[in-house]
Amino acid sequence: MAAEARTAVSPARRVAFRILLLVEKGGYALDLLAARTGRLESRDAALAEELVLGCLRWQAQLDWWIARLSGRDPARLDAEVRAALRLGIYQLRHLDRIPAHAAVYEAVELVKLSGHRFAAPFVNAVLRKVGREPVEFPDEAVELSHPAWLLERWQRHYGRETALGIARANLRRPETYVRLAPGAAPPAGIVLEATEVPNCYRVVEGRAPGLRIQDIGSQAVMTLLELKPGLTLLDLCAAPGNKTAQALDSGCRVVACDLHLSRLRRLKDLPCDLVVADASRPLPFRRRFERILLDVPCSGTGTLARNPEIKWRLTPQKLGELHELQVRLLRNALELLAPGGLLLYVTCSLEPEENQHVLEEVLGAPPERFVQRIPGRDPGDGFFAAVIRSS
Ligand SMILES: C[S@@+](CC[C@H](N)C(=O)[O-])C[C@H]1O[C@@H](n2cnc3c(N)ncnc32)[C@H](O)[C@@H]1O
Repeated sequence: MAAEARTAVSPARRVAFRILLLVEKGGYALDLLAARTGRLESRDAALAEELVLGCLRWQAQLDWWIARLSGRDPARLDAEVRAALRLGIYQLRHLDRIPAHAAVYEAVELVKLSGHRFAAPFVNAVLRKVGREPVEFPDEAVELSHPAWLLERWQRHYGRETALGIARANLRRPETYVRLAPGAAPPAGIVLEATEVPNCYRVVEGRAPGLRIQDIGSQAVMTLLELKPGLTLLDLCAAPGNKTAQALDSGCRVVACDLHLSRLRRLKDLPCDLVVADASRPLPFRRRFERILLDVPCSGTGTLARNPEIKWRLTPQKLGELHELQVRLLRNALELLAPGGLLLYVTCSLEPEENQHVLEEVLGAPPERFVQRIPGRDPGDGFFAAVIRSS
């Protein structure tokens, strides 16, 4: 009986369901997908990713459907029932190639397998009412599936059109970009398209095993550091090492630090010095550096297409806490900048508290030179990068 039940649900949906429950408990979708889809066939792994990220991107709309069709507040349902309903509705409303009966049947089976057999008729009844007809949503927060406070602040800071463009971009599957070492040829089995950023390619088709995946925004901001052979770069928040690897291509030396040893281990194959250090406290260096990269921990609101759960977790209070930490990190990093050197302050956030306001508080003036990349307007994730030159 148990073996029969286990086969009733496809591996992709079973994994997606489990990951959605773990994300509700604080897990990160991309980490969980990387850890749990390795043993699946590539088609199943791709479907699991589509289901998890799709449900998280469109969560507000899916919950609106649950409330409308059941008369129940989704927040008050058991997590397993809510996750099965979101999965079912996402497939019925957003995916073309999945037969409706498979979406409904497997959602019902998932609820039963999770020990919520009593809710199976409820899930079945709700999902059978989902149609594909166009509907009018009550407001933009539901229609664009973002928290209203986030949409409002983007409108305040960037204007209405740009703000809505950001939200729409966050609902699309993001492009994948890779970095090739200067002069390297792309491997067989992948089609790449060159971009305006040197050595950065958009993946048109195929997978990229062995290639370093790094967003175009992340690659673009590094060019501001003017790296060259003979310089030493102190990379203060280095893990997982994408920008460190890019810096090494320029021929400079790199000292890479991170607070977490487990994360710094991901740089172990790079030819640089690794130091576990808390960059918000006095750092263990006697010398100063000609170049410093400070890619601070941030809210990540520039990466919501890739990390959609962030938008449901973030609070205005959390932005204030991040600001305090970022100010400490920048003050500390500036202590180590050599005369005439350059420091690049980077976030993948769209929020001024984490960007301009940090620089204003530390320098007493807005940054002279900065770049803001915005999803929907610029290719790739959103990034902020400001250059500070020491006198
Ligand atoms: C935005 S990520 C860096 C991404 C990296 N530069 C790259 O391009 O791959 C921020 C990093 O800062 C690290 N971090 C957080 N707090 C820190 C602190 N107080 N000191 C040093 N590193 C810290 C995190 O562990 C995380 O790896």
